[in-house]
Amino acid sequence: MPGTVVIKWGGGLITHKDRLCSVNMEVIDSLSKVCASSNKNLVIVHGAGSFGHMKAKKFRLAEGDIPGLEQLQAVDEVRNDMLELNRIVTESLTEHGVSAKSFPPHIWAKGTGPNFEGELPIHDGVTIVYGDVVDDEENVFGILSGDDLMLRYATELPDVERAVFAIGGVDGLLRVPPSKAGPDDLIEVWNPDMVFEGVHESEIDVTGGIGLKASRGAMISEKGIDVLLINGQISERVLAAIEGNSVIGTRIVSGNC
Ligand code: IPE
Repeated sequence: MPGTVVIKWGGGLITHKDRLCSVNMEVIDSLSKVCASSNKNLVIVHGAGSFGHMKAKKFRLAEGDIPGLEQLQAVDEVRNDMLELNRIVTESLTEHGVSAKSFPPHIWAKGTGPNFEGELPIHDGVTIVYGDVVDDEENVFGILSGDDLMLRYATELPDVERAVFAIGGVDGLLRVPPSKAGPDDLIEVWNPDMVFEGVHESEIDVTGGIGLKASRGAMISEKGIDVLLINGQISERVLAAIEGNSVIGTRIVSGNC
């Protein structure tokens, strides 16, 4: 029986982050091809990029209901934009021969952060979920990040071999800002006691950027699951990470090992 690998396709990887609702089809197709070539049971969690963060930021959706702000239309719009991104991802996987089924979180999940409510849906083939605007008991609605979905799937499904965060533009966590980094600046093994330099574009990003991935990665690793953060633009690395072969990237450990 092949084991399970939970993989995040970061929003900045699969979309052009600075152009509203613009997909990077080349990257999506290359990720689909890689996933089709693996016989692991995959759970794919994709991010939002320019299909989520821009409007969510403008209408302050991560803060929940703010009296006086007309947010409900934006909630619907972002949910629809995310359904569209998810349709594109699912179609690409299907075209590459993957039996994939998608479960929009606003239908089954409630609340935000690592302790959101809802039973994790799972499909016999490849399961797809994504960061979404979900209902929230206290704040009416909020943003559930794909990084929190990663944490829950990676730690609650049986037989999880690895969690892989595939991101765009960098090879992993870096010691210096990405614009100044050379090959020696990649942190090969990272734990939460170490600092790293990531650009958290808080102007754009309504969830936690690279910091949230590192933090959720460490929480996953605490449960004894291997965690890798890799450059998702290089398909050989994505395949090696899924298969458990040696790969350029950052291995995240909990600090207790
Ligand atoms: C964010 O999800 C969801 C919305 C803004 C609707 P993520 O936190 O998983 O997205 P990325 O990977 O940072 O784009």
